[in-house]
Amino acid sequence: MTNYYQRCIAAHCRAEFDLDARLYVCSRCGGLLDIERREEIDSSTLREIWQQRRSSLDPRDRSGVWRFREFLPFTDDTQIVSLGEGNTPLYDAPRSADYCRLPQLKLKHQGCNPTGSFKDTGMTAAVTQARKLGARLVVCASTGNTAASLAAYAARADLLCAIVVPSGHVSHAKLAQALDYGAKVLEVDGNFDTCMNLIRELAEDESVYLVNSINPFRIEGQKTVAFELAEQLEWQVPDHLVVPGGNLGNSSAFGKGFRELMESGLIDRQPKITVVQAEGAAPFARFYNGTSQEGRLAPAVLDTFENEEHPQTLASAIKIGAPVSWQKAWRAVRETSGSVITVTEQEIADAKAIIGRDGIGCEPASATTVAGIRKLRIKENETVVAVLTGHVLKDTDYVINYHSQTLIAPDGIHLAGKFANAPIRIQSVKSVADILKQI
Ligand code: F0G
Repeated sequence: MTNYYQRCIAAHCRAEFDLDARLYVCSRCGGLLDIERREEIDSSTLREIWQQRRSSLDPRDRSGVWRFREFLPFTDDTQIVSLGEGNTPLYDAPRSADYCRLPQLKLKHQGCNPTGSFKDTGMTAAVTQARKLGARLVVCASTGNTAASLAAYAARADLLCAIVVPSGHVSHAKLAQALDYGAKVLEVDGNFDTCMNLIRELAEDESVYLVNSINPFRIEGQKTVAFELAEQLEWQVPDHLVVPGGNLGNSSAFGKGFRELMESGLIDRQPKITVVQAEGAAPFARFYNGTSQEGRLAPAVLDTFENEEHPQTLASAIKIGAPVSWQKAWRAVRETSGSVITVTEQEIADAKAIIGRDGIGCEPASATTVAGIRKLRIKENETVVAVLTGHVLKDTDYVINYHSQTLIAPDGIHLAGKFANAPIRIQSVKSVADILKQI
């Protein structure tokens, strides 16, 4: 018997459902669902157990998600679908720190997952649940990374997979991954939000399983990144955790992860969670700015959220105007006294180049974090971790355009690369020698 169940997050509803009820939102009120536990976990020996698993060869222990399985809603005999996700590095980033005028900055690089983005940590749980439910076909709407991740995990699980993407708005690398892993790729005229609406209608068919982050099992997998991060910091959580915001599943998952760690006594405080959005795709930031300090606790505030009809940003991963998980992300920001801020296209582009100069690299959406930290008021003795969500190779057109000074923002403005590093056309061997002397 499982100890877990699904519960509606709406304060006026709180309806409860079985773990295996195939729902994405509450069937009573339409609210988002959380996965909750009935009994407390005895956490007294967990740190040691998790540490010991690092040297085990069991595939569940090799995964940075399933290593923390005491907090996952699956029984011990579950056949997991894993690609060895998680176990991502936490880097010191001195150049990025300097750029943010901080003595120190750490970057948790979720782009080092098997398909190059943080989505894998959630997908392993969602596709495991899909198989458990006997789904025939797994589906998602995506700006590219969810698609690549789902395609890979579906292939591992031998499930049919279809993804719906906005035509012409997904980077070639992400599209290439999804095709290579054998997913049916359906390109739709419109943006991510159009795709999301479409896929939610399709998922009403019982044999289809939707694995966007509205699916609470995705959030369960992703929340373990908070566990891994806390462990990497020897259970001393940072003062600030900064994440990019698109559909707002990631910030929701960090909020849940840190809350559960705190409730079980594994940490004694939570980091302030700050969500950073691109200025042209920032419905969550607008909502945050429109609420007063006191208003944030009032239930009525939830009715004032407005979608962005025409989201615009070159950070295509987060070009989203109707984020499905905003209420969970709101809870994470509010509970941790965090904030929601925006950054410009120029700020994203320059921050991305600086992260590259640390020898780390990331995709544009991830660089919103460093761009945002530069704007946050952080005290000198406070510690900060930024979450890089995707790999630098996810969007090489953007990188080449930046360094060649040909990057154009959606509003037609040329983004001058302050840290551009253009390739040099060579005429003769002698000129190579001359250039090398001048470096
Ligand atoms: N960073 C990257 C690289 C992403 O791919 C995404 C989302 C985000 C940040 C935002 O995360 O949605 O949890 O707030 N990409 C989704 C996709 C929407 O379809 O791949 P979020």
